[in-house]
Amino acid sequence: MSANQQGNKATNQNKGIVGQSINRVDGRLKVTGGALYAVEFPATNMAYAALVGSTIANGRIKSIDTSAALKVPGVLHIMTHENAPKLKPVFTNPAEGDAAGRRVPLQSPTVYYSGQYIALVVAETLEQARRAADLVRATYDEQPPATDIERERGKARLPKGKVAGKPADSTRGNPDAGLSAAAVRVDEIYRTPTEHHNPMEPHATTAVWEGDKLTVYDATQYTYGVRHAMAITFGIPEENVRVICKFTGGGFGGKGTVWAHVPLAAAAARHVKRPVRLTTTRQEMFSNMGHRAETEQRVALGAARDGKLTAIIHEGVSHTSVYDEYVEPFSKATHMMYASENLRASQRLIPLNVGTPTYMRAPGETSGMFALESALDELAYKLNMDPIKLRLVNHADTDPDDKLPWSTNLLKDCYKKGAGRFGWSRRKPQPASTRDGRYLIGMGMATAVYPVNHFPSSARVRIQQDGTAIAESSTHDLGTGAYTVLTQIAAETLGLPVERVRVDIGDTNLPKAFVTGGSTTTMSVGSAIQGAGRAAITRLKELTREDKRSPLYGATAEQVVVKDGRLSLTDNPAKGETYREILSRARVKEIEGNFDMQFNDRQKTHSSHSFGAQFAEVRIDPDFGEVRVTRFAGAYDIGRVMNMKLAESQMRGGIVMGIGMALMEETVLDKNLGRIVNRDLAEYHVPVNADVPLMDIVLMESFDEYASPIGAKGAGEISIVGAAAAIANAVYHATGVRVRDLPITPDKLMGKGALA
Ligand code: MOS
Repeated sequence: MSANQQGNKATNQNKGIVGQSINRVDGRLKVTGGALYAVEFPATNMAYAALVGSTIANGRIKSIDTSAALKVPGVLHIMTHENAPKLKPVFTNPAEGDAAGRRVPLQSPTVYYSGQYIALVVAETLEQARRAADLVRATYDEQPPATDIERERGKARLPKGKVAGKPADSTRGNPDAGLSAAAVRVDEIYRTPTEHHNPMEPHATTAVWEGDKLTVYDATQYTYGVRHAMAITFGIPEENVRVICKFTGGGFGGKGTVWAHVPLAAAAARHVKRPVRLTTTRQEMFSNMGHRAETEQRVALGAARDGKLTAIIHEGVSHTSVYDEYVEPFSKATHMMYASENLRASQRLIPLNVGTPTYMRAPGETSGMFALESALDELAYKLNMDPIKLRLVNHADTDPDDKLPWSTNLLKDCYKKGAGRFGWSRRKPQPASTRDGRYLIGMGMATAVYPVNHFPSSARVRIQQDGTAIAESSTHDLGTGAYTVLTQIAAETLGLPVERVRVDIGDTNLPKAFVTGGSTTTMSVGSAIQGAGRAAITRLKELTREDKRSPLYGATAEQVVVKDGRLSLTDNPAKGETYREILSRARVKEIEGNFDMQFNDRQKTHSSHSFGAQFAEVRIDPDFGEVRVTRFAGAYDIGRVMNMKLAESQMRGGIVMGIGMALMEETVLDKNLGRIVNRDLAEYHVPVNADVPLMDIVLMESFDEYASPIGAKGAGEISIVGAAAAIANAVYHATGVRVRDLPITPDKLMGKGALA
């Protein structure tokens, strides 16, 4: 155990709250409807907005006719590019600034994609606004849209920025020589389609102006980002903008940036001088709030007879929009995943007439590891080697790219424990060799990985005179359990039961936190809350030390411990007093601790990642090609587990999304019109309960002091990484059919392999 770890243990006097599988502290609020989402905040004199989308995907608006719409009773205003106020450019992602391009609604007649907003209607009621929106008519100068990466291949270009921190073209060693010298090779193209986040809660905004002060209730993963963007758009100081988001009904990255409807709602509210509520439709969300970009990836692996990789080549294209840049960094994990001296990673972008893609759950790893882990599986069959053994042979003992030691890495244990729980040893190596009655049975596995990311985060902890405490930071709970885990961290630090701690988040009046994305929140905000809690305790100790009436008078900080809402002497626990007694006597209403958590990521001494191994069993109907996932096991090393129940739930959620990716999810673009043809949940299929088997989740015991002071690594995103590959590999094992383009729909299996 390191000094850092010991220090942590020594100060966790109330040890035991963190790690407990306590129920969600916000559970009751949610099931009783008491949890207010963006469109549920009341405002007096509310007006309602509805959007109008373009019917073409490329061209210019020639004319726009709002006369019929304006006659609808209750209509207050219709905003188009002809009468919209000038709005300053909104950064795609405030954290990235100009590099990521810009998004400016209703500022010109140019149309870049189908469904792009061309008008916004404000009316007394939502129904009136929607009716009027239906009556807005536009004529266009239409150009053929770019809709197909195959057809647009000639326009492939280098990304402007880096690809997940690495150059878009990266080489180590000599990959081409390594490939040609290999005894065994796999060289294939893998494809992943456009996918949509489809959170339960639609994107929605309520905008309220008071003079030149703006309050925005937004469905977001990033309150401070929305504030920053609104300040720029409207040319007002950041202090004049308050953004509130107490609950987010799922985000998966789609709510991590500021989309055009947010400034439009605020502009409309300013114009009609009333609060404006704008709820987007599921259809609008398909066009306007980003998506996972389509990828076409070549993975070439060379290996010696013993399985040692002699070369890894991972290159290909993803799409972006014609007006903005987003790179799906599918080669990201390949740099560090396996020990090979020879590697080339290369990515290009193909602009299409679609809305700009964005982060979607483990952006990069999810699509990239489908390709890499499928290729590893293909290689294992060529080598006649067990897929786990192949991965162990190529296990990276240190980060092969950064040449740094791992902070912690229990991947080997993950393979072992996962395989044991899943019953991997029962798998017959031969494909299409296992049947259950008429069904084909297959088992597949894949590695999962996700880097440890951090964001600077601030928190405040206030211990109240009544012996309760409030922990504050403007982070978000996307449904993941952040309220609960942060409550546990605060409670443990303060030596209070969880019932006496309240966590307040999602409001830019609270200390600053960054986007709730990148699996960072527990590490970043949790560490900030721990720091703020300790600062508050330090101030309490100062009070008792200086107060002659206190039984702890004169005792140094080291001589005093925190337990059960009391300070007491380490060597004489009977001698002490409660927070309530201390604050009452001092006539202090509350005592406050603040902490700014900074991470020194520039001078990294270790490479930090969460790791996992995932195992899928499928059952395939040989006549219909229908694939059912019948069992799934995942073993993960995510650092210290703050709440076993919630962490396991996170892991299950990612696997569910991975099942969708493997078997169902695909956004289909009409290649002629550039319209998304399956833009609703009837046509875009996501897994429902009947599609989801029992899942066996194992979480390793670990404490990663380099990842974060609280020992946690990231838990949010790793759970989807590898899930699709494990299923695709199981499908191959069941059938002998290798499907390299997702999703694995029945048409890709029927008549082939064991289904022939
Ligand atoms: Mo996540 S895609 O970083 O919200």
